[in-house]
Amino acid sequence: MIGTGYVGLVSGACFADMGNSVYCVDKDKDKIKSLDNCDIPFYEPGLSELVTKNFHSGRLKFTTDIKSAIRKSDIIFICVGTPTVKNSNSANLNYVYKVATEISKNINKFKIIITKSTVPVTTGDKIEKIISKKSNKKMFEVASNPEFLREGEAIRDFRFPDRIVIGSNKKSVINKIRSLYDPLIKKGAKFFSTNRRGAELIKYAANAFLATKISYINEIANLCEKTDVNIEDVSIAIGMDQRIGSRFLRAGPAYGGSCFPKDTRALTVTGDLFNTNLSIIKSVIKSNEKRKDILTKKIKRILSNKIKNKKISILGVTFKPNTDDMRESSILKMIPYLVKLGAIIKYYDPSGKKTDISNYKNVYYCDDVNEACYKSDLIIIHTEWEEFKTLDFKKLVKKKNFKIYDLRNLYSPKLMKKKGLNYFSIGRV
Ligand SMILES: NC(=O)c1ccc[n+]([C@@H]2O[C@H](COP(=O)([O-])OP(=O)(O)OC[C@H]3O[C@@H](n4cnc5c(N)ncnc54)[C@H](O)[C@@H]3O)[C@@H](O)[C@H]2O)c1
Repeated sequence: MIGTGYVGLVSGACFADMGNSVYCVDKDKDKIKSLDNCDIPFYEPGLSELVTKNFHSGRLKFTTDIKSAIRKSDIIFICVGTPTVKNSNSANLNYVYKVATEISKNINKFKIIITKSTVPVTTGDKIEKIISKKSNKKMFEVASNPEFLREGEAIRDFRFPDRIVIGSNKKSVINKIRSLYDPLIKKGAKFFSTNRRGAELIKYAANAFLATKISYINEIANLCEKTDVNIEDVSIAIGMDQRIGSRFLRAGPAYGGSCFPKDTRALTVTGDLFNTNLSIIKSVIKSNEKRKDILTKKIKRILSNKIKNKKISILGVTFKPNTDDMRESSILKMIPYLVKLGAIIKYYDPSGKKTDISNYKNVYYCDDVNEACYKSDLIIIHTEWEEFKTLDFKKLVKKKNFKIYDLRNLYSPKLMKKKGLNYFSIGRV
């Protein structure tokens, strides 16, 4: 596994647990040093135990020596990041191509090279070209095996995937990769194979569709707020239609994280490159950006446009629960705006303090919910961590006339009203 981030480490540990001998390579020396002590560099439930077990069994090894790892391996997964290029919408493929160049210099026997990183359609063709510059074409095959795991549920998702997608133009390569996944397929995982470009595009099409579902229900929630309709009724009832499906229909903040924002952007670039206007995805991206403004302006309205010196508590700052990932979390837009207007912000997140926001003036990290909510004017529930689901707000705040803005609809508006609480949520009145 080249690239030992969320995808490389989780997949590497799971493949090792299935009996394979795995080298997890990373250029980040500190990361490899901590992993050699079984310290996991990010928050992912269950990963520490899995890594420790397989590290001690000798099946899982960590290294910065990419050359030696390439030489010793039969199958190489490229798992490096593909973030958005600065000031552009394109996926940055420099990390992927650098690994391809490294592989081209170290091919000593036949290898299957698989992109697990999310890469735009035709990237596999370019990887093949890079490697063929230095190696005989008979010495390698490039395939695609996009990863669909979700942070926070990564191990379960890897072991019980909805489907395993393999893309290669050669049946023998598909069979070889399929055999690696046999233990999962035997337990019921669906397996789907296609050509290499097909697999590359499937990953983007899946992420863009899910992003569309989120933006769609968020816009319907805006309409619910104006028409006195409960968004949850709408989500439940439309979700009962099997053509629609009930998942990803929970209204809330803009989608964020390390995948949907960058992948929707990159897909529109690919569309333009091939003269195909992906207008739906372009408007989803716009809608998602607008969502951040809509919710931030609502915060202002809740506080009657008087933000200066108001104490605002934020519960949860990550883009979703059970991860410490802050990438493109909508809070990253909200906090600077509120700070600029003079708010004093206390935040708590079960995954710990975040450097991305703690550097702002008047933004303070608290060690628990009690400290974060004490004497607050407004509590914003931003991420639906379990521990935010049954709070006694009056006991926590110890002050009159505070307000709650629940961006995840964790509480019932009726019950909150009964308790005399000033409660606002999404798509419900
Ligand atoms: N995070 C997710 O939930 C998720 C899910 C599915 C797919 N993906 C895709 O998988 C890919 C990896 O995502 P991630 O979240 O694991 O990224 P990450 O940023 O957590 O990890 C990437 C790792 O690659 C390492 N790296 C970069 N260049 C390297 C090189 N030349 N040699 C060795 N190591 C190198 C980095 O140091 C880093 O540790 C991306 O394309 C992403 O879109 C991510």
